Amino acid sequence: MRYYIEDLKDHVGQQIELKGWNYNKRSSGKIKFLELRDGTGVVQCILMANQANPESLENFEKLTQESSLKLSGVVQAHPKLLNTFEIMVKNLEILSIAEPFPISPKEHGVDFLMENRHLWLRSKRQHAILRIRSELVSAIRDFFDGRGFTLTDSPIFTPSACEGTSNLFETKYFDEKMYLSQSGQLYLEATAAALGKVYCFGPTFRAEKSKTRRHLIEFWMVEPEVAFNDMYDNMELAEAFVEYIVQRTIKNRPEEFKVLERDLSKLENIKAPFPRLHYSEAAQLVKKENAEFNIGDDFGAPDETIISSQFERPVFVHHYPQAIKAFYMKEDPKEPGYAMGCDLLATEGYGEIIGGGQREESIEKLMVKIKEHQLNEDDFRWYLDLRRFGSFPHSGFGLGLERAIAWICGLPHVRETVPFPRLYGRSYP
Ligand code: 4AD
Ligand code: MG
Repeated sequence: MRYYIEDLKDHVGQQIELKGWNYNKRSSGKIKFLELRDGTGVVQCILMANQANPESLENFEKLTQESSLKLSGVVQAHPKLLNTFEIMVKNLEILSIAEPFPISPKEHGVDFLMENRHLWLRSKRQHAILRIRSELVSAIRDFFDGRGFTLTDSPIFTPSACEGTSNLFETKYFDEKMYLSQSGQLYLEATAAALGKVYCFGPTFRAEKSKTRRHLIEFWMVEPEVAFNDMYDNMELAEAFVEYIVQRTIKNRPEEFKVLERDLSKLENIKAPFPRLHYSEAAQLVKKENAEFNIGDDFGAPDETIISSQFERPVFVHHYPQAIKAFYMKEDPKEPGYAMGCDLLATEGYGEIIGGGQREESIEKLMVKIKEHQLNEDDFRWYLDLRRFGSFPHSGFGLGLERAIAWICGLPHVRETVPFPRLYGRSYP
């Protein structure tokens, strides 16, 4: 039987074997303490001359930081701390002695840590973030799976652009030119016509030459698409979704949030309904604080902060000027010039975490837009077919997973939200 640190509470009084790495060690007189890490947690192991065999005591002395080992001993409850356990070691065997580990508890620069990302992942802070990421991913899947959505993942190789041509990642598909997907949306519109409520969840790519705290070159996006939903239904779905994933994550991962020193009272507020602002109202708010802002322009990161800082909940901005939005957005027939797009701006200055809206269902209007955006109509033959064969109102959105994690964890930068970030200027390791 394999035993893990996370299960120690079920084995108090028993002698068990654990395998892992030396996180830290110290001696105090005749007692030696080893912090053993096995991926499920960290446990204090105690070596005393009258309990452990002599060879184990020698092995302890040889252990360097991150050396791998196995040990056996008796599980005991910590004399003072509740829900904390210790191992009184009888036997300790070295599996592999680690070379001097480059990452020590002292402060390191970001470049150094990024260069050693494969080793940096072994720290408690990174464990906490990655466990929260994992929890968030299952919350996302449970939300949609529990509401009758079918998962229909979109391809990564795509012959055409979804979100404009300026940041397309070009690659080869044998002899053809292809692109890495910027969004699964266009394909989801096809599966929504087949299955009604669908979503996709996978990596997306944007060749964005920007070094900001919220841009990754490769990021994960979850995108639902719903037949016969309008923009208002779409906002209701998005707010129920965000409330669910935030509340579920804070409920299930309290220990991890403690490690990150996250102020959870800010997240407890994240309950639907969220405020909604028309672009014109949002633009007025921005103009008051940023005189340089021109009404009609897209919001920059500082502008989004101006808007979101007025609210304790995430805020929707809808009805952006058509000119600054993607070709597929439906123009509101009641408000010509405005697109039925809705973005969600997170609290605490984190900015846009969701982009979405209602799609254009008229083939004539779409063809005009494809021309205006200088896209190749032939690439969109199949997409236009969706308007030929039973066109239907439909809406959807995309949530950037890493931006959501940065916000929920309260991190200053998206680079720690993914095991191996792809950033402008960094693709190693
Ligand atoms: O607003 P975007 O570009 O919307 C779409 O791609 C739509 N086609 C989605 C849809 O309606 N199905 O991107 C959606 C979200 C953003 O709100 C942001 O959270 C994230 O994707 N995102 C990025 N995250 C990290 N790095 C980047 N470079 C990102 N670009 C977008
Ligand atoms: Mg957007």
